[in-house]
Amino acid sequence: MAGDDPFAEVARLLAERRNAVALTGAGISVESGIPAFRGAQGLWEKYAPMEYATIGAFIRSPEKSWRMLTELLSLCGGATPNAAHTGLAELESMGLLRAVITQNVDRLHQAAGTGKVIEYHGNLEELVCITCWRNFPTRERWKGDGSPPRCDCGEILKPNIVMFGEPIPWTAQERAEEEARSCGVLLVIGTSAQVTPACDIPRLAKKAGAAVVEINPEETRLTGTVTDIHISGAASDVVRGLLRSVSSLQKKND
Ligand code: OAD
Repeated sequence: MAGDDPFAEVARLLAERRNAVALTGAGISVESGIPAFRGAQGLWEKYAPMEYATIGAFIRSPEKSWRMLTELLSLCGGATPNAAHTGLAELESMGLLRAVITQNVDRLHQAAGTGKVIEYHGNLEELVCITCWRNFPTRERWKGDGSPPRCDCGEILKPNIVMFGEPIPWTAQERAEEEARSCGVLLVIGTSAQVTPACDIPRLAKKAGAAVVEINPEETRLTGTVTDIHISGAASDVVRGLLRSVSSLQKKND
């Protein structure tokens, strides 16, 4: 599908269809200093997900899960958006991007100024008690000293993120599916597409007629099957390149 210049081709699709949606994963935040989950520097190399990141593991031993959660919170805490996050916010303000569906829990899309963000895996801003269901802002209860934060009822709190074995919050699931079914272009940025049901979103969009554009330095299981155009590179470079191509297309059409 891509011609000689994939950037120009994607810019043309964005400008013509004016209803793109982005699906983002950990890779988009790598250049903000948050390592991805899988791969050499990834959190899952250090903390086996089945031992630390399932809801069953949290219920059995919340103190153990909090070793991983403390590291995740510390990594995300000081991070700021990079050019890929701000570039997507710019595409939204130009009327070319309708929504961002993110698997990330770091809130960097909101920090970059994107208005419509669907948090598929929740976020780290809130803690919830899985015994009495009270919620607390993380900054009120998490001391960052290694001790797990506690509810007033005495139980250990859980960040309001989706751990393995937990369902996707139903509003996020519904909204994401609706966006996927009705978008003209799906930009899939920085995800290995290994986790269900998030990895089904590109298939859903493709089936409904969207062009699927993958931005990732590596190939994934979507590449060559679901993906129409794969632009290999770091998210910030590629999104910057897309913005340049959009603006030269606009100049040509003026
Ligand atoms: P992964 O760690 O599985 O994949 C990150 C992807 O980002 C890989 O395909 C990398 O090639 C790519 N990548 C790395 N650096 C990049 C860069 N600078 N620019 C663009 N892409 C880059 O992360 P996710 O696919 O997001 O779930 O993982 C999905 C879910 O698995 C996460 O939301 C998390 C995890 O377990 C939960 O915690 C519920």
